[in-house]
Amino acid sequence: MSRVALVTGGSRGIGAAISAALKAQGCTVAATYAGNDEKAAAFTAETGIQTFKWDVGDYDACAEGIAKVQAEVGNIDILVNNAGITRDAPFHKMTREQWQQVIDTNLTGLFNMTHNVWGGMRERKFGRVINISSINGQKGQFAQANYSAAKAGDIGFTKSLAQEGARAGITVNAICPGYINTEMMSTIPDKVMNEVILPQIPVGRLGEAEEIARGVAFLAADEAGFVNGSTMTINGAQYLT
Ligand code: CAA
Repeated sequence: MSRVALVTGGSRGIGAAISAALKAQGCTVAATYAGNDEKAAAFTAETGIQTFKWDVGDYDACAEGIAKVQAEVGNIDILVNNAGITRDAPFHKMTREQWQQVIDTNLTGLFNMTHNVWGGMRERKFGRVINISSINGQKGQFAQANYSAAKAGDIGFTKSLAQEGARAGITVNAICPGYINTEMMSTIPDKVMNEVILPQIPVGRLGEAEEIARGVAFLAADEAGFVNGSTMTINGAQYLT
């Protein structure tokens, strides 16, 4: 059966690879984006995947956007909460805005999105919710008190909802990517990347977005119904839990 998947932040970086992998698996895919109209239009032209613009940190925008996706594309069977931002700063320099923006997008965004598809998934007795957390939610990270707190929260959210959705045929799982070769890495100074981060990765390289998408495709499959509440680590052996 062809499933409908919605991928937040699904037109760039890891999200674009996830959208493409789910499409290749036979899903009808829609992707959300927050800002870059030009890149989203180029993504749609290239892939045929429809894009929708809203801020996952805004509950009402999520309710409205999801209703639109469901009217235009179909009821959402698979939700991939991938949208995320960084606002890195050592804690003594971190502003309230940097804290709040990251919590709003990377943690509250999961509530806002999932809350608006949960009822439908329960009624239809099928759902796949896949939350993109991070290695830094597992181990903590210098200059990321905000991001690590949100990403650790995503894992707790996943484990709770997995228990609640299980009887209704809904699975909820998290993936913790390590350092992946995307635009997000461009905020890291070269010196920190080369002297601090890369030497910590046993595989000796950054991961590729497609290597995360492969995990999402696995968890999204109908056949993955017994995989529930798990945290899949995909990090080149950088941090083992
Ligand atoms: N680990 C250890 N030390 C680090 C570090 C890190 N990741 N990042 C910076 N530092 C060190 C610097 O080397 C520097 O040390 P020295 O003073 O000895 O040279 C010091 O911290 C910088 O301190 P400052 O007070 O001057 O910091 P700043 O106000 O200039 O801020 C920064 C700079 C924002 C911390 C910047 O260095 C940075 O962005 N670092 C990278 C942080 C990081 O690793 N973020 C992860 C992003 S990847 C991601 O988020 C995706 C994911 O899920 C994996």
